[in-house]
Amino acid sequence: MSNEIPVIAIDGPTGSGKGTISRALAKMLDWHFLDSGALYRLVALRAMQEDADLEDPRVLAKLASRLDVEFSTAREAEVVCLNGKDVTALLRTEKCGSIASKIAPISMVRAVLLEQQRGFAIPPGLVADGRDMSTVVFPAAILKIFLTASAEVRAKRRYNQLKEKGIDVNLRDLSREIARRDGRDTNRQIAPLKPAGDARVLDSTQLNPEEVVEKIHGWLEELGLRVGMN
Ligand code: DC
Repeated sequence: MSNEIPVIAIDGPTGSGKGTISRALAKMLDWHFLDSGALYRLVALRAMQEDADLEDPRVLAKLASRLDVEFSTAREAEVVCLNGKDVTALLRTEKCGSIASKIAPISMVRAVLLEQQRGFAIPPGLVADGRDMSTVVFPAAILKIFLTASAEVRAKRRYNQLKEKGIDVNLRDLSREIARRDGRDTNRQIAPLKPAGDARVLDSTQLNPEEVVEKIHGWLEELGLRVGMN
């Protein structure tokens, strides 16, 4: 398992900024990065492609166990290929996120993805972003952060992100969809979104990404991890 490999686990709701912050930290530390939501989105995408029954745990678990996926970087941007095809943009759609959230409570799917996620913990270390990184996947993480922000700010951030990617969305519809998704992620029985008992809760409502990274940098120094900020 991943016990000896240092892991920083960052969990939080949609739009909390965990993706941006986790990527910045991984870059700063020169560690690996796991976007665990992408795995749930990949299963969702496969389910859509196969027109699979979203109520059938076995079918979904099978799709999860047979993901032919490759994560890479091209010109500083992440690229995700599924069965040899670039699906980066498809994965980011709200539809995919919403279906991912619907299949995420299925224990057979989570069990398959659990092992895949732990496989990302390789030297020199891993920054992992998701909903249950601290509570389930990497309970021995050296630093556990629960990143949050007001619902209004999170919806606005997500809106800006999608707009930047050229995806047309309506802010009010997006806010509703985010609220539904967070409700599902928080209220499910298995691995719900919640801070681990030993997590540091960080509210980024009033902070920009640089300020959040600076705060975490301070915690890393407290832990004796010397990292340069640039
Ligand atoms: O972080 P994201 O929006 O890409 O995640 C999409 C969905 O996947 C999210 O709504 C719930 C699910 N998910 C999860 O259950 N556990 C994780 N560790 C990551 C994502």
